[in-house]
Amino acid sequence: FVKKVCTLAAAVSTVALMAAGAADAKNFKIAVGDSAGSPQEATGKFFIEALEQKSGGAHTATLFLNGQLGSEQDTVNEAAIGTLDMSLLAINNVTPFSPSVGVFTLPYVILSLEDAETLTQGPIGQELTENTLRDAGVRIIAWTYTGFRRLTNSKKPVVSVADLQDLVIRVPKNEIMIETYKSWGINPTPMAWSETFTGLQTKVVDGQDNPYMTINAMKFYEVQNHVTNLRYIFSIEPLIVSEAVFQDLSEDDQKMILEAGQEATRKSAQFLRDSEAAIKEELIAKGMEIVDPENDEAEFIQLATEGVWPQFYDSIGGVEKLNEVLAAIGRDPV
Ligand code: MLT
Repeated sequence: FVKKVCTLAAAVSTVALMAAGAADAKNFKIAVGDSAGSPQEATGKFFIEALEQKSGGAHTATLFLNGQLGSEQDTVNEAAIGTLDMSLLAINNVTPFSPSVGVFTLPYVILSLEDAETLTQGPIGQELTENTLRDAGVRIIAWTYTGFRRLTNSKKPVVSVADLQDLVIRVPKNEIMIETYKSWGINPTPMAWSETFTGLQTKVVDGQDNPYMTINAMKFYEVQNHVTNLRYIFSIEPLIVSEAVFQDLSEDDQKMILEAGQEATRKSAQFLRDSEAAIKEELIAKGMEIVDPENDEAEFIQLATEGVWPQFYDSIGGVEKLNEVLAAIGRDPV
């Protein structure tokens, strides 16, 4: 009986390998910055599901959640040298390696999920993918849509720029985000994502910003109680693959990976549409108090767009690049 089962198992895996057109089965390692329940994890699962289905079960991947494989910025280095296969991380943590993707982190450029989809899935997304490949040795194969980064803190409701002044806010190690807070009058504290929960818990910092979905998945409600509905950045989080690893694959496998990435991108947008409103309610039920910035955020918007955009024209490829992005989402040029 045992022999029969073994023979059957061998036959099944041979069929799977033939279906994949691949000589050997793969189990890709995917670093994930966020925890279970996050949009990053959802995209990872969608990708794995599509990859397994397209390869007839021959290829799969494993998610290593919660920064287990290092800080998000470290994983870009690891993937660049080929010691890590893939990583799911926020675009703001790719920018230091490929400055032109900073156009997606400029404050108040992306104003909706639809803008994010248009930009990432159109020619601009394609161009930025090529730039990232050239600059950082990693290939963007899918996009996660996570929602607007909302400001949280442990001290008080913040509705105005004036309210921010005595708070210590953690930001990613990202120049655009650092300059944005400076335009609002404070010096933020750059800190790796993998250290942020502890930083909030030990009160080294009072607050941070990330989307509702991330705040919930990372359990920030345990150490933060105020949320301000800022909309300065719509968070998009690519799945990157090491180009060294990608180039080692057969053409069929490369095609499968790219298609699985496209499927994961489509499902990620749906996941956000289906889940975000309920997650916001969950945060309220868990004790977070959520407020809107006063005057429709006018002061935040004016200070950040006037103060920050011109500083980064050079690094994003000129003011023309920003105007191209704005035109693609139906906005007036600067
Ligand atoms: C960050 O704040 O560093 C990132 O946006 C975190 C994330 O990946 O969710």
